[in-house]
Amino acid sequence: MVTQTQLISLFRSFAQGDDGRFRSLAMDLAADAGKRGHHRLADEIKTLMRTAGEGRGPASRSTDPIPVIKPRGELAGLVSANFPLTRLSDMVLEDGLRERLRRIVEEQRHRETLAQHSLKPRRKFLLVGPPGTGKTMTASALAGELSGPLYTILLDGVITKFMGESAAKLRLVFDAMQNGRGVYFFDEFDALASKRLTGNDVGEARRMLNSMLQFLDEDGSDALILAATNHPELLDPAVFRRFDGTIEYHLPSGGDARRVFEKALFAFDLGAVNWTVVEGESAGLSQADMVRAAEDAARTAVLENDALFTTAIVVAALGDRRHYPTYNTK
Ligand SMILES: Nc1ncnc2c1ncn2[C@@H]1O[C@H](COP(=O)(O)OP(=O)(O)OP(=O)(O)O)[C@@H](O)[C@H]1O
Ligand SMILES: [Mg+2]
Repeated sequence: MVTQTQLISLFRSFAQGDDGRFRSLAMDLAADAGKRGHHRLADEIKTLMRTAGEGRGPASRSTDPIPVIKPRGELAGLVSANFPLTRLSDMVLEDGLRERLRRIVEEQRHRETLAQHSLKPRRKFLLVGPPGTGKTMTASALAGELSGPLYTILLDGVITKFMGESAAKLRLVFDAMQNGRGVYFFDEFDALASKRLTGNDVGEARRMLNSMLQFLDEDGSDALILAATNHPELLDPAVFRRFDGTIEYHLPSGGDARRVFEKALFAFDLGAVNWTVVEGESAGLSQADMVRAAEDAARTAVLENDALFTTAIVVAALGDRRHYPTYNTK
């Protein structure tokens, strides 16, 4: 049986012109059908995919994504650019959080309507929460929803020990934002805007914090600026009011483990899994831990159990994640 998620993934890859993913999903479906004894269907899908030659697949459609403007010169060492296909629907989110993220997308999409009433979309958000709960994924998903580029600021490039240089590099990044729309993502934001200024580079860290505050204040671009941290307590209090809102992430709660597993393993039949047991065994693990456990479980199921999932296989994979607590900390 083709699952609903499989079909949606297939249609989405087509709509996004992601030829590679479309083909790989179609071949998964063919393999799945073959395994279930539907050999005619499997052969038909395979033949169709083979005859849909170059230039006739979904990639040739006019809705191909706009190419990313690659950062050049000095900026190339400060920012990395990509064009994510992730969507909010790929994420398992609490209702309230999903709604907040959806609103951010809506405001961005309807900026002209807002402008008619002299309003602007909110553009600066702080994402706060434990490791592996979806902050970085959110940056990708918002860029994906807006069909725009995601520019991730490279801390190693921006933070230098030379006097005044970090502030100058940060200015380059903010200057680049003036040139077009996109999502700008400052990960590990506490490294850029910490209140605990200690060690040899106090002067430089203070200059960077002050520059950060100033650039956030002055920024009048159309960019969506996201900053993420696992340690909001380390941030200078002056930082918070520079943002339009703080968005909190949490470890998964009731029912989330099942949803994370089902999304990660959409191509498999999970009918034999006892979700009450899995939920119990997942307590304390992050969404990222669960996705990795799901992938571990899939490898075991494929190699050792004819691609059939059992509760025991999933529980063993979750146990393996738990045995390495250092994976769960930064
Ligand atoms: N809410 C979620 N829904 C579905 N999958 C998730 C979610 N959160 C995390 N994941 C999975 O875990 C991976 C890592 O998550 P992500 O990098 O977004 O975590 P993070 O909050 O940025 O963690 P860190 O604080 O360590 O940077 C994702 O690529 C995805 O596979
Ligand atoms: Mg992250």
